[in-house]
Amino acid sequence: MVETADAVTGAWRSGVPFDVMREMTAVAATIGVRTMFAAEITEHYRDEAHACIEEIIGGIHREVLTSALGVRWLFPHRARRFRRVLSRYEQVIDEVILAYRRSGAEHADILSMLLAARDDAGEPMSDGEVRDNVINMFTAATAAGRASTMVWALHLLDRHPDIARRVQHEIDSVLGGDPPDDPSLRRLELTRHVVLETLRLYPHGWLILRRVAAPVELAGQILPSGAGLVVSPYQLHRRPSLFPDPERFDPDRWAAETPGLREAYIPFGNGSRKCLGEAFALTEIVVVLARVLQNWTLRGQTVSSGPVVPRVNALLEAPPLVMTPRPRTSRVTAECV
Ligand code: HEM
Repeated sequence: MVETADAVTGAWRSGVPFDVMREMTAVAATIGVRTMFAAEITEHYRDEAHACIEEIIGGIHREVLTSALGVRWLFPHRARRFRRVLSRYEQVIDEVILAYRRSGAEHADILSMLLAARDDAGEPMSDGEVRDNVINMFTAATAAGRASTMVWALHLLDRHPDIARRVQHEIDSVLGGDPPDDPSLRRLELTRHVVLETLRLYPHGWLILRRVAAPVELAGQILPSGAGLVVSPYQLHRRPSLFPDPERFDPDRWAAETPGLREAYIPFGNGSRKCLGEAFALTEIVVVLARVLQNWTLRGQTVSSGPVVPRVNALLEAPPLVMTPRPRTSRVTAECV
């Protein structure tokens, strides 16, 4: 994570503005693909896998909706293109699995773990099952969610310079000039609270879907089995009874553990379908933010005034944001604090 963040931010030039979403997507996408396939043998597949995923994620909303409404014929070219990309994506994953099987080496990545996994009877997964798991994981772990959270966090800090200063002070005193590692990450409390608060205000999965398995009463209504339910983390996170002064960006609300608050805080969903990547995503966002703010001060350009409105799609996306980087010249060292 640190290597990738450094590689992307290393190309920034002082005073030269950049598109923050593009840069953070590059960081999150590279980390995602390297976590899945770390082996050098698959390097040339990474860009192709990433391009396919982006196109699939971009089209999945339309595919699900038009197929549920029985109107896929409305967009025949798009439906055909979607199927073509999906089948190329499956082919790419199959080629990577084959390359791993041939090399027989363990690469300390998710694909190696899937290939080594055994069920209770000691049987490995078939190639088709491994492929489905890779696709499921990649689709769920889309770079956009992590990138969008990083962008929102940088935007919120730009709007709240007092909090940004405290975060930079924490990063300097905990890390000095060193990259974040496991023990130091645990001490970056305020930085982590900034990430939790960002996900409260702008949960990437702003809608979570459920189907009723057995008749159930909810808020005085009997819901029959098979009924569809839509839960909105975005709306829940902004209820004043649960989060006082909900529109305010207040990372310090996470310093005091309020009973009940955790249950209402669901940027990663809840229950048996809860996000599998919560710890991974939180770690990554804190690492990248810490590394960026350790080395750079960023100032927003396009959205310095007026309300910022999220782009609502199947997922909640950050708006375009241009920032200007300045390298940090003076840092507080651990000895000074
Ligand atoms: C900021 C980043 C992320 C956010 C906001 C997020 C959010 C979510 C949400 C809301 C769900 C649906 C939960 C539900 O229905 O209750 C979900 C499911 C899932 N997520 Fe994430 N996620 C993120 C990153 C990741 C990453 C990095 C991975 C993998 C390493 C991942 C893997 C999954 C998987 C596999 C599921 C499906 C779980 C299931 O249906 O059993 N997610 N995520």
